[in-house]
Amino acid sequence: MSRTLADRLSRAQAEISRRGLDPNAGKSGNPFGGGRPGGGGRLGPGKPISREAPRPPSPAMSSSREHPFLMDLVADEEGAAPQRGSIKPERKTAIHLAVAASDAVRVDIAPDDPLDAPLPRTEQLVTDAKAALQRLAKAREISVPKGEYLKTFMGDVLDEIFGYGPLEKVLSNDKITEVMVNGPYIVFVEVEGQIYESGYKFADDEHLEKVIRRIATPLDRPVDIDHPLLDGRLPDGSRVNAVVRPCAIDGPNLTIRRFSLEKLQIRDLIDFKSMTPEMGKFLEALVVSKKNVVISGGTGSGKTTLINCMSGFIPSGDRVVTIEDAAELQLKQRNVVRLETKKPSPNSTTEVTIRDCVRNALRMRPERIIVGECRGGECLDMLQAMNTGHDGSMTTVHSNNPRSCVSRLETLVMMAGADLPIDVVRRQIVDAVHFIVQASRLRDGSRKVTYITEVVRLEGDMPILSDIFKFEDKGDLPNGKVDGFHAATGNRPVCVESLKQKGFDFPPEFYARRLPGRR
Ligand SMILES: Nc1ncnc2c1ncn2[C@@H]1O[C@H](COP(=O)(O)OP(=O)(O)O)[C@@H](O)[C@H]1O
Ligand SMILES: [Mg+2]
Repeated sequence: MSRTLADRLSRAQAEISRRGLDPNAGKSGNPFGGGRPGGGGRLGPGKPISREAPRPPSPAMSSSREHPFLMDLVADEEGAAPQRGSIKPERKTAIHLAVAASDAVRVDIAPDDPLDAPLPRTEQLVTDAKAALQRLAKAREISVPKGEYLKTFMGDVLDEIFGYGPLEKVLSNDKITEVMVNGPYIVFVEVEGQIYESGYKFADDEHLEKVIRRIATPLDRPVDIDHPLLDGRLPDGSRVNAVVRPCAIDGPNLTIRRFSLEKLQIRDLIDFKSMTPEMGKFLEALVVSKKNVVISGGTGSGKTTLINCMSGFIPSGDRVVTIEDAAELQLKQRNVVRLETKKPSPNSTTEVTIRDCVRNALRMRPERIIVGECRGGECLDMLQAMNTGHDGSMTTVHSNNPRSCVSRLETLVMMAGADLPIDVVRRQIVDAVHFIVQASRLRDGSRKVTYITEVVRLEGDMPILSDIFKFEDKGDLPNGKVDGFHAATGNRPVCVESLKQKGFDFPPEFYARRLPGRR
């Protein structure tokens, strides 16, 4: 056993005796992880096991809609800083014990692998790990709780050995779509569009940083004082961002957008009432008839989901190049080339930006270009591509409504540094972008397409936009859900003829304003 490992073990043991915590005492509540005794620590419906009172709902949580199974062990020690939170000493010690045991076992079963590197959770290695744990316990090198807590402890140790520690329980829950770790003691999760504090905790900053390094090591990225910002992906495709000190003030931070293999389809969005069947049909018409579309929306509003769904309508003969920072799009067609940007790393300092990829894509004979997100100067290249024979291209932009989307596009074009006069920029935008589709995450957590808006023309220097469909928000229902409906606005799109040529000959009623319930 290495010296530091032995040190860690003896530190954990010393802490246990100092605090008078006997890992086998057991009866005063389970200090081992966030789950029920014997329950393997998984999130699942059940009584909170802690005697700690649940933390009063913060503004980020909806008090009327607490998720009962996420409430255990959320509470802090008295006097804890609000953005930092805290952990009960006995729980901290229990986690230290699991971490120390996991380090000891790893050295035993995979002596050549650095502790920061991931170890695959194969059946053989799990068997080896369990055997090693028993051996070390028998030799009294580590102390292992007995009885009802043993299984939970074993689960925690295996999660430390093969995975991302406390995050494993969160990541194994398919209902959780986003994980937000604000320092070691505050872990928020998103379930069904709502945000809850989960109660899972790391022992301390060091423990959380270890998990972050385990994410970063296979990506060949350092995370330290000189590289405090990390963007990357988990092996399952989930998008990860981490920030450590000195940029993260209250301790290391981690944000994970879960990747789901089962991407939502247009029919799901219709079933969820994110749009009407008519709106789905209209979006199909826009894609098939090669309109350039910008999807506008805030973070997590469903932009990528929408662009993914809409790209399903691209005819299979069209050659498509997709460009993203971290590949999320899943096109079903075969004539698709997927490009991803490259960040510099110590072993390879070259950077390849979205802009580089867009310019390169133009030499790949694409019919359409899809840029996952326009965040800067690449917007100019994208508009130029749209204006030069790559009709049917799509991208997403961060903005809250179609009008502010146009201003945002102007700002992004300015970032290209081409020094173009504003009227030229506006002309470019109005010529290039045919439609803006607005995605919104409403206050009840539901995601909706709130506008499908045509970019019609420039009148003087004013871009004229015409909403074709929109979501009319009527306020809140007593159950907290948003009351409202989708409706056509009565505006007929200017491009109606070109849609017709592609076989989308919608009757006038299709665009007529109808209130719900009246046919
Ligand atoms: N219409 C929808 N209804 C329910 N969930 C949705 C909907 N659209 C997206 N989601 C979910 O919301 C999360 C964020 O969606 P995403 O498309 O990645 O957002 P954005 O690209 O705007 O950040 C994902 O987990 C996704 O599955
Ligand atoms: Mg996105």
